[in-house]
Amino acid sequence: MSTSTREPRTDPDEHDREAALEADFEAVIARHERIEPRDWMPEGYRRTLVRQIAQHAHSEIIGMQPEGNWLTRAPSLRRKAVLLAKVQDEAGHGLYLYSACETLGVSRAELTDMLIEGRQKYSSIFNYPTLSYADVGTIGWLVDGAAICNQVPLCRTSYGPYGRAMIRVCKEESFHQRQGYELLMTMMAGTDEQRAMVQESVDRFWWPALMMFGPPDDASPNTARSLAWGIKRNTNDELRQKFVDMSVPQAERLGVTFPDPQLRWNEERGAHDFGQPDWDELTRVISGDGPCNAERIAHRRRAHEDGAWVREAASAYAARQQEHPHDQKEQH
Ligand SMILES: [Fe+2]
Ligand SMILES: [Fe+2]
Repeated sequence: MSTSTREPRTDPDEHDREAALEADFEAVIARHERIEPRDWMPEGYRRTLVRQIAQHAHSEIIGMQPEGNWLTRAPSLRRKAVLLAKVQDEAGHGLYLYSACETLGVSRAELTDMLIEGRQKYSSIFNYPTLSYADVGTIGWLVDGAAICNQVPLCRTSYGPYGRAMIRVCKEESFHQRQGYELLMTMMAGTDEQRAMVQESVDRFWWPALMMFGPPDDASPNTARSLAWGIKRNTNDELRQKFVDMSVPQAERLGVTFPDPQLRWNEERGAHDFGQPDWDELTRVISGDGPCNAERIAHRRRAHEDGAWVREAASAYAARQQEHPHDQKEQH
């Protein structure tokens, strides 16, 4: 980061210099080009990005838990291999995103502390439990599906490292969505009991999936600023609408319904009308009072503590390499 933001603005030359930097920044945004880590950026832009990328990284990592819950109980070796690969991909997404966040001057250790101390958030969806194996399919189809709607526009976000991370992430999310849909298709071709499991799972996840896009636009005060900075490319309601329009034909094909009596095609708008999720529930879950919040954080904290010896060993090794860089060569 440039130090100019921290210096007193009494020097008129300094003031001019900062105004010029800000004008350059705005011009890059206006041309839809990218801001890179060493470029000057307003402090608010940096803070907004740290918050959004960290929240995104934490969601990938916490998101491993609900599905990880079924790894030991997958119904076949094939399902287990697919689920393992998917959960492992999410770990990779978390790591790309922590790296992108580190380019903004915050360390991964600090980010992890903020997560386990409850000072930063992650997606509300991962505070819901996974009660049946059908949930693995529903999460792939609807939760990864909602993530794709949110993330595809982020490939064009104004901050370079974030946009580039999203390109790889989106390719993998689209595999995740297909594996979920394929699992549900298989179950729907099975017994009545399996079909009922799928419908019950979809009924539980539909509204929380809609909440993944955040509060309605008129209750989302930061959206305008994020759009102006090119961090976001669409509003919450635009993305939610896109997700509903995308999911309805997929549900028909699958043979399930969504638990929304107001859901219908609106010929005039060329889009689906749909009901509003329970926004009070979203507020409760975001503020820590969802069904699994405490469990998710406790699990993450335990994993972090259990991994302390690995971090210590890696640091000791790195320090030794720095002191005696030829050690390893001599051993071979
Ligand atoms: Fe992911
Ligand atoms: Fe995913």
